[in-house]
Amino acid sequence: MNEKQAVGEKAVEFVKKDMVVGLGTGSTVFYTLSLLGKLVQQGLSIKGIPTSVQTEKLAKELNIPLTSFDEIDQIDIAIDGADEVSGSLDLIKGGGGALLREKIVAKAAKKLIIVADSTKLVDQLGSFPLPVEIVPFVMKATKRHIQKLGIHPELRMANGAPFITDNGNYILDCACPKILAPNELENNLNMIPGVVDNGLFIGMADMVITVDKNKEVILRE
Ligand code: A5P
Repeated sequence: MNEKQAVGEKAVEFVKKDMVVGLGTGSTVFYTLSLLGKLVQQGLSIKGIPTSVQTEKLAKELNIPLTSFDEIDQIDIAIDGADEVSGSLDLIKGGGGALLREKIVAKAAKKLIIVADSTKLVDQLGSFPLPVEIVPFVMKATKRHIQKLGIHPELRMANGAPFITDNGNYILDCACPKILAPNELENNLNMIPGVVDNGLFIGMADMVITVDKNKEVILRE
């Protein structure tokens, strides 16, 4: 079993009957959803809130019942992947472009569980370019504001055109020097007009499920 599958499936142990579950996005959470789909087929009753159109489609294929923020305010547990996980469980997310809905779901969740293979573990955040979701209307000015923070934004492209998020926005992938003050950077970025949100998830993860040197699945809290 590969690491993504091992950590993705482990997270399912924390899902209990009648929970509202935030369904993350990406290739690790794919395994969480696949196993959840099997358990639903065997009678587990849950409702999912997807963090992306891609996850919504997958959940529907797996017959996982869905709900939305029109119907509920709070989520029992959210399970999601990450691009980087620091020693203090701070995260960079958004490599798949779903960071905004992921953060909304994570904030509404009583418990956020991150599933991350060992390649995601870092001492300090910042090697992975930080995704920042921005409004297309003010793209160039937003880029200039971000550059003033000493970081280098690149517009994310897909098939020769700007990548468009599920919310109709663009993503700037921002090469940062090592992120020494993640809280400050998160706030500074979000104060720029045109920035919708960024991929720093600081102090949000309650548990990270990962793999140690001996390839054993471990829980970090
Ligand atoms: C999606 O926007 C991201 O936040 C993903 O959760 C993150 O990129 C992890 O994806 P993988 O599990 O595919 O590595």
